Amino acid sequence: MPSPKQIVVDFSLTSSIKVSLMDMDLIKRTGIRAAFESGKILKSYFGNISDIRKKGAIDLVTEADTASEEMIIGIIREMFPEHSILAEESGLDQEDENHQWIIDPLDGTINFAHQVPIFSISIAYAFEGIPVMGIVLNPVTGELFSAVAGEGAFLNNHPIKVSDTRVMQESLLATGFPYDLLSIFDTITGRLENCLRAAQGVRRLGSAAIDICALACGRFDGFWEQNLHPWDTAAAVLIASEAGAVITDFANKPFSIDKKEILATNGKIHTEMISLLALS
Ligand code: IPD
Ligand code: CA
Ligand code: CA
Repeated sequence: MPSPKQIVVDFSLTSSIKVSLMDMDLIKRTGIRAAFESGKILKSYFGNISDIRKKGAIDLVTEADTASEEMIIGIIREMFPEHSILAEESGLDQEDENHQWIIDPLDGTINFAHQVPIFSISIAYAFEGIPVMGIVLNPVTGELFSAVAGEGAFLNNHPIKVSDTRVMQESLLATGFPYDLLSIFDTITGRLENCLRAAQGVRRLGSAAIDICALACGRFDGFWEQNLHPWDTAAAVLIASEAGAVITDFANKPFSIDKKEILATNGKIHTEMISLLALS
């Protein structure tokens, strides 16, 4: 086991508060180990699913989601039994306002169920409600995105940063569609139309965590979506923010993981994106 390390993080948003975080190395290593073990499980189920259930009209859960989640929770529990865990399939296990893990055991379940190899595992650790460690693993490509607050963002241990694109017509954007899209269909299509008309292209990969990490390493210049959940965004927003992204809601107010709207960009096209997402 690595020796415990005491890190003092001075958050820019809460600069008056100096937060001591014990064992950040151990927290990150635990997250990475859990992601890789879960990745093995997802790969073993990929193309071999026998149990697919519907949570809603188009919202699925497979045996791979639950097996992955159980593995991740087991590893975190073993190392940090006193921490709280919020996981997509099993919910919140216990209250601890200081230490919370936020897990999406399979981000991109519809892709997975259709054997489209674009999905990820997202694991974040939040201190006092703010994500300070994030891991997103694409087990098919082996791409591991990671970040610790104040230490930069990495793709397989190489530092990453957002793109320099300044011109909307040269920008590649990404978005996603929530499961309850029919109830907000006009806002979804209105925003999509504005962005399609203005940008070089708009992609919909099917895993919000991969979308946001793709922004973090400069593949996409902007990403927006409505009605995501904390487990979709907690790890990836830290990674993107450490890579230099600007992340707000559609009204240009600071983003937090409990908000329903996210706009993440390279910063250079942010103001223009805010205008494109504004519906009259
Ligand atoms: C979904 C994916 C998708 C996004 C949906 C999410 P899930 O997560 O991130 O890209 O558009 O809004 O719910 O259900 O596959 O974990
Ligand atoms: Ca998800
Ligand atoms: Ca999921």
